[in-house]
Amino acid sequence: MITDDLRDSVPYQENPVPDSDRTLHVGQPNLSDRAAFDRLVDEMYENRWFTNNGQLVQRLEHRLSEYLQVKHVVLVNNATTGLQIASQALGLTGEVILPAFTFVATAHALQWVGLKPVFCDIDPQTHCIDPLKIEALITEQTSAIAGVHVWGRPCPTDAIDEIASRHNLATLYDAAHAFGCRHQGRMLGNFGQCEVFSLHATKFFHTFEGGAVTTNDDALAEKIRLMKNFGFESMDRVVELGINGKMPEVCAAMGLASLEQLDDVLEINRRNYLAYDAGLSDIPYVHLHPQTNLEGTNFHYIVVEVDDDAPLSRDELLKRLHDSQILARRYFFPACHRMEPYRTLYPEYLDALPETDRLCQRIMILPTGTAISPDDISRICATIRSSLTRRKAA
Ligand SMILES: Cc1ncc(COP(=O)(O)O)c(C=O)c1O
Repeated sequence: MITDDLRDSVPYQENPVPDSDRTLHVGQPNLSDRAAFDRLVDEMYENRWFTNNGQLVQRLEHRLSEYLQVKHVVLVNNATTGLQIASQALGLTGEVILPAFTFVATAHALQWVGLKPVFCDIDPQTHCIDPLKIEALITEQTSAIAGVHVWGRPCPTDAIDEIASRHNLATLYDAAHAFGCRHQGRMLGNFGQCEVFSLHATKFFHTFEGGAVTTNDDALAEKIRLMKNFGFESMDRVVELGINGKMPEVCAAMGLASLEQLDDVLEINRRNYLAYDAGLSDIPYVHLHPQTNLEGTNFHYIVVEVDDDAPLSRDELLKRLHDSQILARRYFFPACHRMEPYRTLYPEYLDALPETDRLCQRIMILPTGTAISPDDISRICATIRSSLTRRKAA
């Protein structure tokens, strides 16, 4: 509880907020080089081939499999469909253990295909699933563990593998945030039976809408390819239950054009992260969630924790930022177990995930990406500083 005494005890600091009212958003898309994109769209027109595993999709799959150093990349129309297809291709049944601290699509994808999401708490240091809490959730019905590489930070894959192999469970990862991130010297995309990336417009690397399922397992890749195309093995021959999970050519064009600039985007994200690190370091009550893997992250999320005893609550601070046209966001708020249909279907989790609940109340995400400049970051940090510091009552 924050009292007025506490608020007034905050030292006043002189911090003029730079004068700008440009709206700064979390998740503004990175733009590819327009001429490169246009050339690929021209090619698509010349081919008169807009979808159904066209040349651009095939080329992007090939490029991504080189980039991620993984044997198979199957492009799909988004990560949610990718997770659904992956869970079907893996033959999952019954229950799947996953964190509730994730975008609701992870849980929805499982629930939609008739699996029961079993919510596990997180490690407050990493914000990823806590491997020490997984085993207690395993039942006769459990078929898999689905980790989420939150903010691109790798899940504890060794511990998860060890538990999974002891209980004969499949492992898959929601790598929606994690394109371009490394773990133990390998690119994410190579862990578990398969991993699923989101290539949504708000992501580090994107194709407007899109997703990619990656695996080193030939048979699994083949099955995922069939399933994303209605189960067609060849013309007129359907051999699986399938769905329409195909990526259109125009999306692959965006991906191919964007891939050329990914190093530049990474450099801008790194610059922005370092600017936030410097700008926030001496502001009381806020802490930048540290990147522990500077050579292996995409720096795509700027995650800030607000102390419980701050003079403004996280939500009050967000309101001040929004009033200044800085559209910072809560993430993932509320966590999945507090959203429908989960809170009604599985009320047992409402009291079972203290670290998840605590984190959801504490964090906010600040804008970054190629739309955000160092001056914008100065403005954001100055707004946070001036919001959290007040002139002491005379
Ligand atoms: C962790 C996570 N999983 C899954 C998804 C769903 O991705 P898509 O929008 O590509 O379906 C998202 C999207 O933001 C996400 O953040």
